[in-house]
Amino acid sequence: MTKPTKRILSGVQPTGNLHLGNYLGALRNWVRLQQEYECFYCLVDLHAITVQQDPAALRASTRDGAAALLAMGVDPKKSAVFVQSNVPAHAELGWIFNCIARLGWLDRMTQFKEKAGKHKERSTVGLYVYPTLMAADILVYLATHVPVGDDQRQHLELTRDIAQSFNSQYGVEYFPLPEALILGEATRVMSLRDGTKKMSKSDESDYTRINLTDTPDLIAQKIRKARTDPEPLPGSPAGLESRAEAKNLVGIFAALSDRTPAEVLRDYDGAQFSKFKEDLAELTTAKIGPITTEMRRLLADPGYVDSVLRDGAERARAAADPIVRDVKEIVGFLRA
Ligand code: TRP
Repeated sequence: MTKPTKRILSGVQPTGNLHLGNYLGALRNWVRLQQEYECFYCLVDLHAITVQQDPAALRASTRDGAAALLAMGVDPKKSAVFVQSNVPAHAELGWIFNCIARLGWLDRMTQFKEKAGKHKERSTVGLYVYPTLMAADILVYLATHVPVGDDQRQHLELTRDIAQSFNSQYGVEYFPLPEALILGEATRVMSLRDGTKKMSKSDESDYTRINLTDTPDLIAQKIRKARTDPEPLPGSPAGLESRAEAKNLVGIFAALSDRTPAEVLRDYDGAQFSKFKEDLAELTTAKIGPITTEMRRLLADPGYVDSVLRDGAERARAAADPIVRDVKEIVGFLRA
């Protein structure tokens, strides 16, 4: 088998509403990368059940997530769009990686600490080994590049450690060491109510985030109500220091208009937030509106979305199965 040199795998959790943070932080890059790479895009339902899920809601959000990707411009003819649990190779390689990764490595994972909170002993074992499955998602395609949000950097490092450790333990040069692709401005979109907290689907207040399914009116309202400070906008990014909310809104503006914060501030030097927010609301609805419209159209035809996922899973299995076969051979499993 010739190994791919430019292959991407990325995953998104199918747990409810995708929001502007997901979009600007990672997902919109998925669209651009299709030009240059062979892409595998995965709705990670096996990861979703590391915390309790309502079965009907999980199924619905998996389909919603797929529709969102297609609506953004992921092209199912170019890229394989599929559901993780439809490709058994992920879980198989995940187990093998559980036997490579060390407790000490997983103990350092900050996402586990955040998600487990005070009650580590009540977390599922799945939540703890979440990163080994993520490594399997990536390496089961011998992916070389992984577009992710900033918060996934540590998991990518672990993936490289697992790849390297597997190769050295078995004396092979089998797995590549995949690289994180963290692209663009506003990779970290913060809450509209607290500029020090990440925009999150689990925040109690819906006014902290812009969902990809919000109507234009609601988007405008949320931006109008976003927290700011009394000062006018500065002329350069240096003036945003210790102004977390202002910095966040400027970052969003920059990302949505494909400019740098410095360029945006040049236009708004000394402006009041009322004016800036008006323009930001317009920009946001102009960029997000077409996606939500297309998403609604796609969801009116779930049969189409499911057929895309079926085809994607078939292509993903065709790519992953030979790799798992190789790995089993390397590990010494008897193929009877
Ligand atoms: N952990 C990622 C997140 O929460 C989702 C994910 C699972 C992923 N498997 C992946 C991302 C593989 C990139 C590659 O955002």
